[in-house]
Amino acid sequence: MEIRAGKWRKVSLFCPKYTAVFLFLVVFAVYFLQRNINLLETPAVANVTAVHQLFQNKTTPTTPVPNRQHINCSHHQLLPEERRLLDSIAWPETPRLPVPISLKTTSDPAHSTFTILPVRAGGQWHVGDELEALIQIRDFQGRPKHFGGDLVIARLHDRTLGAGVAGRVVDHLNGSYTAVFPLLWEGRAQVEVTLVHPSEAISVLHRLTMEQPNRLSYFSLFRSGSVSETVACNECLPPTQPLCNYTDLHTGEPWFCYKPKNLSCDTRITHFRGSPKHNLMAKEETLFRSGVNMKVSIRASGCNNITVLPKEKGQPEVKSSTVKPEPAGYYYQGAWRALGGATVHQFNNPSAISQCLTDKVVHMYGDSTIRQWFEYLNSVLPDLKEFNLHSAKRTGPFMSVDMARNILVKYRPHAPPLSWTVIPANELHYVANELDGIVGGSRTVVVLSVWAHFGSYPIEVYLRRLLSIRRAVLRLLDRAPDTLVVIRTANLRALTLGIALTNSDWYTLQQDRALRAVFKGLNVHLVDAWDMVLAHHLPHEIHPRPPIIKNMIDVLLSYICPQEKA
Ligand SMILES: *[C@@H]1O[C@H](CO)[C@@H](O)[C@H](O)[C@H]1NC(C)=O
Ligand SMILES: *[C@@H]1O[C@H](CO)[C@@H](O)[C@H](O)[C@H]1NC(C)=O
Ligand SMILES: *[C@@H]1O[C@H](CO)[C@@H](O)[C@H](O)[C@H]1NC(C)=O
Ligand SMILES: *[C@@H]1O[C@H](CO)[C@@H](O)[C@H](O)[C@H]1NC(C)=O
Ligand SMILES: *[C@@H]1O[C@H](CO)[C@@H](O)[C@H](O)[C@H]1NC(C)=O
Ligand SMILES: *[C@@H]1O[C@H](CO)[C@@H](O)[C@H](O)[C@H]1NC(C)=O
Ligand SMILES: *[C@@H]1O[C@H](CO)[C@@H](O)[C@H](O)[C@H]1NC(C)=O
Repeated sequence: MEIRAGKWRKVSLFCPKYTAVFLFLVVFAVYFLQRNINLLETPAVANVTAVHQLFQNKTTPTTPVPNRQHINCSHHQLLPEERRLLDSIAWPETPRLPVPISLKTTSDPAHSTFTILPVRAGGQWHVGDELEALIQIRDFQGRPKHFGGDLVIARLHDRTLGAGVAGRVVDHLNGSYTAVFPLLWEGRAQVEVTLVHPSEAISVLHRLTMEQPNRLSYFSLFRSGSVSETVACNECLPPTQPLCNYTDLHTGEPWFCYKPKNLSCDTRITHFRGSPKHNLMAKEETLFRSGVNMKVSIRASGCNNITVLPKEKGQPEVKSSTVKPEPAGYYYQGAWRALGGATVHQFNNPSAISQCLTDKVVHMYGDSTIRQWFEYLNSVLPDLKEFNLHSAKRTGPFMSVDMARNILVKYRPHAPPLSWTVIPANELHYVANELDGIVGGSRTVVVLSVWAHFGSYPIEVYLRRLLSIRRAVLRLLDRAPDTLVVIRTANLRALTLGIALTNSDWYTLQQDRALRAVFKGLNVHLVDAWDMVLAHHLPHEIHPRPPIIKNMIDVLLSYICPQEKA
C-alpha cells in the first residue's frame, strides 16, 4: 500500500496501526501549519509608517534603515576565552549553495529515514537502557547525503502514557545521525524524528547573520515640544551620519541611534521595531518551506516504536549515557520529572503555590517568555493581585502583590534589542543593572529569560549580553549567597519563512548552547524550556501552551521550595 501525501512519499504498513499514526500526524501537521500562520511573537510593528503616525505627522524616518551593508562593529570582537567558548559550541560546516539554487541535492525529509537499532544484548529493552535510532538524510533525488550540518531533532514518547523525552542527536558529519534516548518508562515508546532545517538552509541563516545583522530594524521617536523625529537605531550602525551613543556605561552594552536633525540625543521617547527586511538570493526561500523541508517529520524505515520492559534487577534507574548532555528530565503522565538529582513536585492548587511563595519577592526579568510566567501566576493565584502601574499592555513593568502572605512578584523587560510593541525609552533597563540594584537574600528569587530577541544578530552580541548578566549574577550571589537565581532557557518555536530568517530554531539553539556554557558551574538553576517543549506532544510555540507552562512553574517552585523526599 502506498499513500501519497505532500509530506510522505510512501508509507508502508510495516507496523500495524501505522495508518492511524499517519492520520494523526497529518492532522497534527495541518494543525501545525495553521498555527504557523500568526505566530509572530513580536507582532512587531509591521508598518513603521502607521506607527509613526501614532506619534507624529511624519510618514518616513529621517534616516535610512541600514540593511545590506557589511557593518564592522569593533564591539563584536571577543576576548580569546570568549572565542574559545564559542568555538566549543560551533556548528559543523555547512555546504556552499549551488548557484542557481536547486533543491535536487539538498536534504529532503521525505526521502530521509530513521531506523531503530536492534537492542544490543538479550533481545529486549528495559527501563534504564538506551535506545538508538540511526537517521539517514537523503536529498530530493533520494541519494544519501555525505556531509552533516542539518538541524535534526528527536523525541521518544507515548501519548497514552503522557510520556516524552528529548533525544540527543549526534551528527556523524557524513549524512547520518544517531538519536539517543534514555528509556525511562515501562510500556510503549515511539520515536519521532524531525528535520528542522537542511544544512543548506543553515548556510543561508549563517550568511544572513554575518551580512545582514540589521535585518530587523529598530527605531526611536525623539520629541521635544512640538518637534518630533523618528530615526533608525541599532546595536551597530554604519557611521554614515552623526550618531547618538546610548552605550550603557555600567555594562558596556552598545546601542545607537542616528542623531535626529533638529533634536538632541536626550529627547529619545520610544523604542520600537520596524518590519524585517531580508535580502535572500534567488530561490533561497525554497529552502524554508513548511511541510517540505522545514520542520518536517522523517519516517521510520520499519517500526517506529518499541515496548520497554521493567528495569532488570540490579540495574540503576538510568545508566549514565555516553551522549552528553543528558536530558534534563522527561514527562510521565503529563508531569515533568527531573533527571539528575532534583525532584519536581506538583503544585496543583493555588494554596500550595501561595504557601511556597509566602514572604518571597520574585523578580522576573527578560522577554515575553518570562512575562508568560508572571501572567500564569496571576491567573492561577486568586489572592495575587496585579497592581496597576499603568504600563502599556505587554510591555511592563508589572507588579503583583498578595498582601496577606507578603508575596511580591515583579516583571520587567530587558533592554534593546527588544521587539514587541512601542516601549518608552526610559523603560529600557539592562538586566545586569537591575540585578545590581537588588539586595538579595533567602527571600529573593530572581528569574531570567533573555534570548528571544537576539536571533538575528551574530552570536557575539548575545554572548556579550550573557556575560554582563553573568557578572551581575556573580556579584549578587557574592553579596547574598542565599539568593535563588533561576534561568529559563530558550525553546523551539513554530517556524514560517519570516520567523526562520530572524529567529529560527537554529539561531535559538546556538544561543541556548552559549547560555548553558556561560552559566555552567554557577549556583544558578535552569528550567530547561528547550527539553520541556521538545519532549511534549503540544506544538512548538514561542509561548508554550499552559500545560507546559504549568510544568515549568512546578520546576521553578520546586527550586524555591524543595521538599524532603518522601
Ligand atoms: C508499534 O509497533 C508495533 C509493531 O512492532 C505495532 O504493533 C504497533 O501498532 C505500533 N504502535 C504505534 C503507535 O505505532
Ligand atoms: C502603512 O500604513 C499607512 C498608514 O496607515 C498606509 O498608508 C500604508 O499603505 C501602509 N503600508 C503597508 C505596506 O501596509
Ligand atoms: C496630525 O496632527 C494633527 C494636528 O496636530 C492632529 O490633529 C492629527 O490627529 C495628527 N494625525 C495623526 C495621524 O496623528
Ligand atoms: C573592523 O574594525 C577593526 C577595529 O576597528 C579592525 O581591526 C578590523 O580590521 C576591521 N575589519 C574589517 C573587515 O574591516
Ligand atoms: C557515518 O559515520 C558513522 C560514525 O562514524 C558510521 O557509523 C557510518 O557507517 C557512516 N556512514 C557512512 C554512510 O559512511
Ligand atoms: C560610545 O560610548 C562608549 C561609552 O562612553 C564609548 O566607549 C564608545 O567608544 C562610544 N562609541 C562611539 C562609536 O562613539
Ligand atoms: C529641521 O528644522 C528645519 C528648520 O525649522 C526644517 O526646515 C527641517 O525640515 C527640519 N528637519 C527635520 C528632519 O525635521
